[in-house]
Parts: sequence; structure tokens; C-alpha cells
Amino acid sequence: MIFFLSLITFLIIPILSYYLWIWSYWIRKGVRGPRGIPFVGVLDKFQNFHKPYGLVLRDWTNTYGETYGITEGVEKTLITSNSEFVNEVFIRQYDNFYGRKLNSFQGDPNKNKRIHLFVSQGNRWKRLRALSSPAFSNNSLKKVRSTIEDSALELMGYLEKLADTGVHVDFLEYYQEFTLDVIGKIAMGQTESQMFNNSLLPKVKSIFSGSRRAFFIAGIFPICGVFLRALFTRFPSLLPSFVLFDIIEKAVTARIAQRDADATKGIEPGEPRDYIDLFLDVQSDVEFFRDEMGGEFAASQVGKVDKHLTFDEIIGQCFVFLLAGFDTTALSLSYTSYLLSLHPEVQRKCQEEVDRECTSPEVTFEQLAKLKYTEWAMKEALRLYPLASIVHNRKCMRDTTVLGMHIEKGTNVQVDTWTLHYDERIWGKDVKEFKPERWEKPPTDGFLPFGLGPRLCVGMRLAYMEEKLLLAHILRKYTLVPNEDHKPLKLVGTATTTPSEVMLKLKSR
Ligand code: HEM
Repeated sequence: MIFFLSLITFLIIPILSYYLWIWSYWIRKGVRGPRGIPFVGVLDKFQNFHKPYGLVLRDWTNTYGETYGITEGVEKTLITSNSEFVNEVFIRQYDNFYGRKLNSFQGDPNKNKRIHLFVSQGNRWKRLRALSSPAFSNNSLKKVRSTIEDSALELMGYLEKLADTGVHVDFLEYYQEFTLDVIGKIAMGQTESQMFNNSLLPKVKSIFSGSRRAFFIAGIFPICGVFLRALFTRFPSLLPSFVLFDIIEKAVTARIAQRDADATKGIEPGEPRDYIDLFLDVQSDVEFFRDEMGGEFAASQVGKVDKHLTFDEIIGQCFVFLLAGFDTTALSLSYTSYLLSLHPEVQRKCQEEVDRECTSPEVTFEQLAKLKYTEWAMKEALRLYPLASIVHNRKCMRDTTVLGMHIEKGTNVQVDTWTLHYDERIWGKDVKEFKPERWEKPPTDGFLPFGLGPRLCVGMRLAYMEEKLLLAHILRKYTLVPNEDHKPLKLVGTATTTPSEVMLKLKSR
């Protein structure tokens, strides 16, 4: 009896009070919002594959207004679709909001050895960003262009078989084959094209379409997230994302061994073949130092200079590039193609631009830079379908005030981008229309498919280049034609927002 009384007094009551305290956070602050239930908050509402995250937020914004609060397990999150608020958090007050909304299952951003650019924060992020950015410079993009074009031509071979057959196929599947082929070659040491025969594809796809149960559990009980991460690290075959770490580790180890063997034979290292080479060679212009506690900072103070990526960091970077580069780019290509097929006049303008600018058999880096209208069409598709809105968030790292609202350390700010991208005050009355011309004079605010501020997507230029290159090859030979019934896309997904399918056919020009 005494044992049970002590258990209730010292364990159960404090735990219940803690969860009730968090759950009632916004009620106590007088901020409106959907409440959900204690312990869970509204976390369960984000587990429905048929109702993507961004669309759940958009519905709530219709009910609760521009800025409101939710709790997700132990996390307190302020949702906003006010562009001034977003600019304040993502740009002007970046120093107070330099972290992301994270889940313990993603690892400790300050301690975990394989933490990558996306999850890292503070000085560690600065260092990884400075060391990774050269991989996306003009110079590096020029180097990977021909690798991307090889994959584009490989895909063209498959598309050729479809042309003029009248058969509709799911272009999302074709684009996933393409983007995985590209990223496999530029970030994972893959030497030959493995299109339509890539054993990695189901694993990578399941990371985006599979269950988010581990995130759900970790959201409510962070300690379980730490345990699950340790478990999957020990037994990677249990979860696809951990298998990928294993595959990348083998590729990086093999490359180091090969470079060592070359060095022993006196063979000079040639041009970097891919991101693994770039990361092994990378040197930052910024000098980084380590203090006695192992923390990193960039400043001219005493300490050990560390200008390279470690072995684990290279694996982490390749991993995040694989994930971030595969799904998003395939989705962006799919939405653009879908919209082009529904708007023949826009498609014709893109085709005219491609015919005018891309006159040689290969599409050069310089020609890609001239495909302005095609880029507007891609941007307009990303405005209408902000597919990665789930990561448009920041964590408050220091108490502050944003537009008169006090925000406490630890609170997340999440953008409701689907509302923001359809805000008539920013985009005008024709906001629902697919109109690439609006990008001739774009608004200064309210567009964030690639995020905003210092943590803007590092791969944005690679994504635009990859998409333009493939679209240039497709559009100069074919016209994209929609399904006869013109059904609107069905949007699904628990991470990125994905069309369930994008059925199109190809007509030779
Ligand atoms: C259409 C394609 C893409 C979209 C829509 C997209 C979207 C995003 C978004 C919204 C963020 C968060 C930015 C923020 O917090 O402000 C992000 C970050 C990131 N993306 Fe992308 N991305 C795309 C392609 C790529 C590609 C091709 C790569 C690399 C191969 C990549 C690598 C990353 C990385 C490493 C980060 C973390 C950056 C940081 O925290 O410093 N992304 N992306």
C-alpha cells in the first residue's frame, strides 16, 4: 500500500502534472487553437496519410485565424501564416530562432556524430553549412551537370517508348527513378545508371510514405525516441533510413580506400567525381576551432583548427542529400509537368524558350541559365504546391518578442505555407491560377518553398538545374498531355505533400 502511495506521489502525479502543464500551455497564454487531448495534443492529427500536414494546418487557420497555438506531445508550436511574422522569425531574429523543430528520434543536434546539416544547429550548423556549401557552387554544379544529363537521357530512352502510344503513365514514378539515379551518382558513389532496376528505390520511398510511428511515440515520450534511435543504429536492417546510412558508409569507406591505394601508386587525384570526393577534399575558408569542451566555433581564438568534414559527417551529409534531393525534386517535377499539361499555352511558351535557347544536342549550363520562363513555371508550381511545408519551422532558442507577442525559449514557430502561398493580399485576386507571368515582378514576401533566411535549402540551385535540364529534354521533343478526365490531384503524405499519382501521356511535337 505504502509502495503504491509513494509511486503515485513521487512518479505518477509529477508526470501527469508535467503533461497537463504542457498541454494547457496555450490555454494559459490565452492563445486560440485546436487542443487535442493531454499527452498527445494534436500530434495524432498528423498521422493520416490521406490528409497531409500542410492541409491540416490550412483547415485550422480557416477556423482559428492567422496565428494560433498547438501542442504536439511535449512540443509547443505557434502556427502562423502572417508574412511579417515569418520574416521576423526566419530572417530578422534568426539569432533567436536558429534551431529547427526536432524530434528526439532525429538525434541530439549537439552531440550525435552523424548529425547532418538539416538537423544540426548553432555553431555546428555554421561549420557544416560552410563546409557543404561549396558542393552547390557554380563550379560544382557545372561539374555534376553532365552526370545529371546522362540520367536525363537515360530517362528519355524510357519515355520514347511511351510517346504517341496514347498510354498514360504515372510520371511521379518516372521522376523518382530519375532523381534517385542522379543523387545516387552524385552523392552515393553509384557509377552506372540503375534506372528502373534500383534496389534502393523501395527503401528510400518507404522513408517518405511509410509509417511515422517512431516520430509519434518520440513526440510524446522523448526518451523512447532516444532508445529507438539507439536500437535502429545497432540493428539498421530494421528501418530503411538506417540501412541507407550503412550503404553510404560502405561507399565512403571504399572511396577512401581507393584514394589511399591511388596515392600509394603515385596517382594524382583527378577532378572530384561526386559529392563524396568533394566532401573528402573540402576545405573551408573559415577557420573553425574546438574549445576544451569539444564545442565548435568559428572565430580567431586559440584552439585546434578544424577545416574538414569528419568521416561521420561525410556520411551524414550524403545521407541528407540523398533524402532531401530525391523526393522533393521528383515532386516538384511532377507538379510542374501536371500544371504544364493542363495549361497548353504555358507549355507552348516553355517549348518556344527551350527551342530558342537550347540549340545544341546537349543542354549546357549557360543555356539552362537562360530558361527564365521555364523557371517561372517551376516556381509557380512550387507556390501552388509547397510540397515541403512541414519543415518550414524554427525553434526559439532564447526568450524574445515577435510583433508584440512574447515567445518563450523552446517554443516552435511553424509556417502555414499553404495559406501564405494562397494569400490574395500578396498574390492578388488570381491567386489560384497557374500564372508563371506573375514571376516577372514577384512579391518580396510570402514565398518559401525552399525555406527562408540563413537556413534556406542549400540544394535549391541543384534542384532547379536538375529539373530544368530534364524538362528541356522532354519539352523539345514532346508535349505533355493530361488524362482525359482532368481529375484534380489527390494529395497524400505524412512528410512531404505528394500527389497520389500524376497520370500523363506524351505526344511527339
Ligand atoms: C524542389 C526541391 C527541393 C525543395 C522544395 C526543398 C525544400 C527545402 C526546405 C523547405 C528546406 C528547409 C529550409 C529552411 O528551414 O528554411 C530545405 C533544407 C535543406 N535542403 Fe532542400 N529542397 C529541395 C531540394 C534539395 C536538394 C536537391 C538537396 C540536396 C541534394 C537539398 C538539401 C537540403 C539540405 C541539406 C537542407 C538543410 C539546410 C540547412 O539547414 O542549412 N534540398 N529544403
